Amino acid sequence: MARSKFIAGNWKMFTSAASGAALARAISKGITDDRIRVAVCPPFPYLASIAEVLRGSKVELGAQNCYPAVEGAYTGEVSPTMLRDVGCRYVIVGHSERRHGLGESDEFINKKLHTAIEAGLDVILCIGETLTDRESGKTFDVLSSQVSAGLKGCAVELVDRLTIAYEPVWAIGTGRTATPAQAQEAHRFIRDEVAKVWGEAADQLLIQYGGSAKPENVKELLSQADVDGALVGGASLKPEQFLAILAATA
Ligand code: PGA
Repeated sequence: MARSKFIAGNWKMFTSAASGAALARAISKGITDDRIRVAVCPPFPYLASIAEVLRGSKVELGAQNCYPAVEGAYTGEVSPTMLRDVGCRYVIVGHSERRHGLGESDEFINKKLHTAIEAGLDVILCIGETLTDRESGKTFDVLSSQVSAGLKGCAVELVDRLTIAYEPVWAIGTGRTATPAQAQEAHRFIRDEVAKVWGEAADQLLIQYGGSAKPENVKELLSQADVDGALVGGASLKPEQFLAILAATA
């Protein structure tokens, strides 16, 4: 069975209420191919208003993070239930800026994943090696352990609700992209790791590439057999670039 393509924009800590709404509007109006799955992930404060902007469009809403509890005394945190409540379909967990910048562990990320799934969100789980990992030949050990710890306790039935984003840390925001061959090698490896637990169902899992994806390189990346989409940072903030990525995907 052919896998669909999935492009998601990770806006990180950028945009304002006005510029985010304008960006969401431009993207939803500019989409021409409705076979591609498309999502944008704005900052928390803008989710509810952007949900209104996107109402009735092909573009779905995602959040960039969540806390692994439904509610409670967790000052400053946001629960997956709240994200569902304001119209999110997706949540990103395990982004490298949180793993490495904020010290989030695999166990914590796995807890978020389960809480999000139980709340009804679909999850984009980010994994990826650092430059040091790659240069010391540890890429596949790191990917293997992030896959098994990240998906711990996930039944095969969740395959349609999970996406893995392979984001080599050295390619994020650096302008340095993995070559199509490097991406394919990593994606194939990830799918094989998932297959050790899920068997054939691993063939259905969507695996996005992330790390300086842009209109100029996305077509070649997406032509690789195991690359099913992209998680786009910088280039998702400019409507013409994000739409060009969607056009190249189609
Ligand atoms: P980038 O970010 O496209 O700006 O490299 C990707 C990401 O962090 O998800």
